[in-house]
Amino acid sequence: MLKPIKLAKKNFLSSLDTSSEEFLNILEIAKNFKNKDLNIEHKDKVLGLIFDKSSTRTRVSFQVAMSRLGGTTVDLNPTTSQIGRGEPIRDTARVLSRYCDVLAIRTFKQSDLEEYAKWSSKPVINALTDLEHPCQALADFMTIKEEFVDFKNVVLTFIGDGNNVANSLILYGALLDVEVRIACPRGYEPNELVINNAKKMYKNKNLLKITNDPIPAVYGANVLYTDVWSSMGEENQKEEKDKDFLGFTIDQSLVRNADKDAIILHCLPAYRNKEITDEVIESKKSRVFEQAENRLHVQQALLSSLLI
Ligand code: CP
Ligand code: NVA
Repeated sequence: MLKPIKLAKKNFLSSLDTSSEEFLNILEIAKNFKNKDLNIEHKDKVLGLIFDKSSTRTRVSFQVAMSRLGGTTVDLNPTTSQIGRGEPIRDTARVLSRYCDVLAIRTFKQSDLEEYAKWSSKPVINALTDLEHPCQALADFMTIKEEFVDFKNVVLTFIGDGNNVANSLILYGALLDVEVRIACPRGYEPNELVINNAKKMYKNKNLLKITNDPIPAVYGANVLYTDVWSSMGEENQKEEKDKDFLGFTIDQSLVRNADKDAIILHCLPAYRNKEITDEVIESKKSRVFEQAENRLHVQQALLSSLLI
């Protein structure tokens, strides 16, 4: 019978934190949750949500996931807790992990997330940092698998900012040996450490391509993916980035250069007619709402694998 595998690592802070076996198990469990073929109970378990940045999908999908497992959630943010007053992370983490069974944290610095994980006696999940968004990438790969059955010969092209979402996609691409092409303006390349880690993991090092030209990057691609040009915390760079990213919009002419059966992904929220046109996001090729739905299923599977 299909069962969650207890993750070898205590925390899920990065796409680096699961082996390929654990990753594929999470996707399989998620698929079974989605099809209502699996029922796992973590009755009375409590998930603490600490969100220093806004969220719609991540917060609500974690709340619903926990409720489907028979558990509950506590939702904290800097204004309603002592976190905004500057209580040290090491104190917050030690206290909350005495009340909660698992914590999901959305914050700015990856090092702050790591500090929570260091002091928490319970598992900590990355619900987005400036560096990574691994829960999103789990849902993205689930969506890709639903479409293409397996990852063999899949080419994933990400067009836009080499940001948290791009970093997590690269690391899972490396884990699975999936071709990942990142097309970004000069100066907006993904994190160097992430690229180096990915290169160490890829069996075929040529499968990771970083370019400043979106047109060749989409040739033959099966998945076209984009995200906002200015992430949360970068609001003051918006004007400059809007100029720097001209030519990096996923529009119909770019889509025509991809594989004829290519799908379109966006983690949402989207700025229509900036990083993606309204026409493309609403087109038949778009899987953005399946992708958003899959956040729920993969996180329910992830929680099941951490709470065993
Ligand atoms: N994609 C994503 O993480 O969305 P939210 O910011 O709404 O959680
Ligand atoms: N890169 C975006 C993702 C939002 C889900 C951000 O960090 O704001």
